[in-house]
Amino acid sequence: MYLRSEGVTVDLFFRLYQNLKHNFWLNFLNDVSIFIFKTAQMNTSLIINNDLVETQNYTDALSPQDRSLLAKVAVATTDQVDLAFNAAKNAFPAWKNLPAHERMYKMELIANEILRRKDELAQSLCAEIAKPLRDSIKEVERSAEYLLFTTQAFRNIEGRVITGDKMPGYNLFQKTGIVTYEPMGVILAISPFNYPINLAITKIAPALVTGNTMIFKPASAGAATAFILSQIISNLLPPGVFNFISGKSSEIGDYLLTHPDLSMTAFTGSTSVGRHIQKVSSVPLYLEMGGKDAAIILADADLEMAASEIIKGGFSYSAQRCTAVKRIILHDDVADEFISLLKDKISKLTLGRAEENADITSLIDSKTTEYVIDLISDAREKGAQILTGGNKKNGIIVPTLCDYVTKEMRLYTEEPFGPVLPIIRIKSVEDALEKANDSKYGLQADIFTQNINTAFYIANNLNAGTVQINGKSDRGPDNFPFPGIKDSGMGVAGIRDALYSMMRIKMIVVNS
Ligand code: G3H
Repeated sequence: MYLRSEGVTVDLFFRLYQNLKHNFWLNFLNDVSIFIFKTAQMNTSLIINNDLVETQNYTDALSPQDRSLLAKVAVATTDQVDLAFNAAKNAFPAWKNLPAHERMYKMELIANEILRRKDELAQSLCAEIAKPLRDSIKEVERSAEYLLFTTQAFRNIEGRVITGDKMPGYNLFQKTGIVTYEPMGVILAISPFNYPINLAITKIAPALVTGNTMIFKPASAGAATAFILSQIISNLLPPGVFNFISGKSSEIGDYLLTHPDLSMTAFTGSTSVGRHIQKVSSVPLYLEMGGKDAAIILADADLEMAASEIIKGGFSYSAQRCTAVKRIILHDDVADEFISLLKDKISKLTLGRAEENADITSLIDSKTTEYVIDLISDAREKGAQILTGGNKKNGIIVPTLCDYVTKEMRLYTEEPFGPVLPIIRIKSVEDALEKANDSKYGLQADIFTQNINTAFYIANNLNAGTVQINGKSDRGPDNFPFPGIKDSGMGVAGIRDALYSMMRIKMIVVNS
């Protein structure tokens, strides 16, 4: 399969594949590659102190598309978690004291290696989480860019010197404060299934370049791809700096989160898990959780542009993104015209396999699929109009548009993580604000209007970490801060903020 630790054959295959791009045989080779990837299963392992560590137990990584076995994923014990913490703790002093330019150089090496193995990583993503191949490639490229940009941003972070004499009672130079930044210690990074590479790198890059050592624990779905990434990273770093643990959260989750050698946890995943992390943790946290992003369409909006944005925002990667548009708050006056534009665009979305770049693919597992179907059924039973979709084809949910969704329906409040968009009708700006803010989530919200004053009024009154004016919700560009409020998060991601969140201020005061 796509997994490769010493996979020379697979490597040769990829070179061949590259050379034959645009060749008549490309499609044929692509099919063969998928066949090879699916038939050569292998076991992953843990990575502790740069050693590949075997485990007693394994879980199956199954294809979301056809349930075929892709890999056996190592299940760590609490003793192995101890070993990983011990390795990270021992590696910390030397890594922290390494000149910063050497750590930065290592990040560049990792970025280059990720790019060199782009096709392999993308194929792995595509197979394991059914992300369309073109988006899988983008995820890998985005991750390499993230590493490089993080390194550059870190280059520009400096401490400062302050004098105490601005406070009454102190003379000039009686007390001189030197404000420095130092790493936290051992950071635990937990990544979600939907971005096994990118949402790992958004934590790994700032943690390592600032001098922390770390333990990386991916979600179970995506763990095999995360293992390949982890091999790349650990191979380029001194032993113990970066350790990879996979396993069952029910067995090792709390043990990791409450370990005495842990200094900080950075997590992306569901709100329920994030809230649990908050409950059990006593270290600084960064939490990126769920969303129910509203897109407000006012009567004066550029409807064609808004519809295109909503299609991308609402259906890319089958809406398995925290920033997916998850509610359309639509002004009655333009509802008919806007719905007709949306329906036309939805009818052009393709359903099928991720390798073939279908727009809508199988969701991550059957439980999620059934959950989304239940939400649609509940809305239908309570009076919503299903304008298109509402069913499955070959196990894939047909992109669905539900009109007249009201508060009584679960689709009004719950986060589907699947291709269904509820339409909530409004008659005024105030009505739009009230409906958009009627959510426990507060990640992003979008406002489509041609009136800049209205746009700013709404932006200032929406309870969301980010408000997009005339554009879909989106985490990127990655140098932008990415905050979430209410049940959507705690702390701020985005390259610069992530760097600061993984360091603490150390004051050195010179008394004279
Ligand atoms: O799923 C959560 C991600 O942070 C969303 O990122 O907006 O780049 O898809 P994205």
